[in-house]
Amino acid sequence: MIVAQKKITVVGAGNVGATTAFLAALQQLGDIVLIDIVDGLAEGKALDMSQASSLCGYDCKITGTTDWAETAGSEIVIITSGLPRKPGMSRDDLLAKNTEIVKSVTSQIVKYSPDSFIIVVCNPLDAMTNAAAMFSGFNRNKVMGMAGALDTARLAYFVSEKLNIPAADVDCVLLGGHGDDMVPLARFTTVGGKGLTELLDEKTIEEIVKRTRMGGIEVVNLMGTSAFYAPAGGAVKMAKAILGDEKATLPCCAYCDKEYNVGGYFVGVPAVLGANGVEKIVELDLDEKEKNDFAVSVQHVKELVDKVRKMI
Ligand code: LAC
Repeated sequence: MIVAQKKITVVGAGNVGATTAFLAALQQLGDIVLIDIVDGLAEGKALDMSQASSLCGYDCKITGTTDWAETAGSEIVIITSGLPRKPGMSRDDLLAKNTEIVKSVTSQIVKYSPDSFIIVVCNPLDAMTNAAAMFSGFNRNKVMGMAGALDTARLAYFVSEKLNIPAADVDCVLLGGHGDDMVPLARFTTVGGKGLTELLDEKTIEEIVKRTRMGGIEVVNLMGTSAFYAPAGGAVKMAKAILGDEKATLPCCAYCDKEYNVGGYFVGVPAVLGANGVEKIVELDLDEKEKNDFAVSVQHVKELVDKVRKMI
């Protein structure tokens, strides 16, 4: 029997959106509305997922639509719509087009789900999260971006490969924007309480950090478009933490003012996610190099946000 549950809207029925909806269904997060501007796309994918329910073991209502009215009253809206990267493109190349998309999507979210939490997934991630906050005017704890969950999952996987252990056993921390200057923190990455620096040599750690930074483009170069399984996994993990009031500490793009001296921008930091969205920013005791690397990454985010401000 399908019972009324929490409502999650996934905006965009492309690779990331459809995978997000599917993973959310598999984890029984709630009823799912998948919305896209392309006629039939979200409807088709939602019908396919609904037909798979008895095979895959989920019992939730999955609606595909082009009509924002169907999204009304969502607890969480996950924005995946936007252009993906192609080979040769940086995430920043998507700025102008995706700003327009985030603006239009956000106006619909404000209209139909004014009490929702917004999780931004489209790129350039940090700039689009700042944009969603500006356009929605929502309280800052209610708007966040998914990047750290993805980037730490990549870091965890690369470490797990080297150590031949499950990726879930690797505890990772990462700061900064979702770009090539993100700051994976090897010093705070642990396995069973042991620091990475005790487990791997410096050169291997450097390779892993570099591969994590370039984790997105490695996938783009292999298949001609951007990743979707891991990004969707990150978005669903964040939604689950909020809906389940998990108080889980996850790296995500969250509003920082005095925290880390960021000065009023959304950037990647470890944050506690629970029923109130971003409930707390976790401040780590960084050394000078970590502080400098983070400052470089934050500066890059600020420059992109300033470009967005000039566009609106
Ligand atoms: C990536 C894209 C989604 O990192 O930014 O794969």
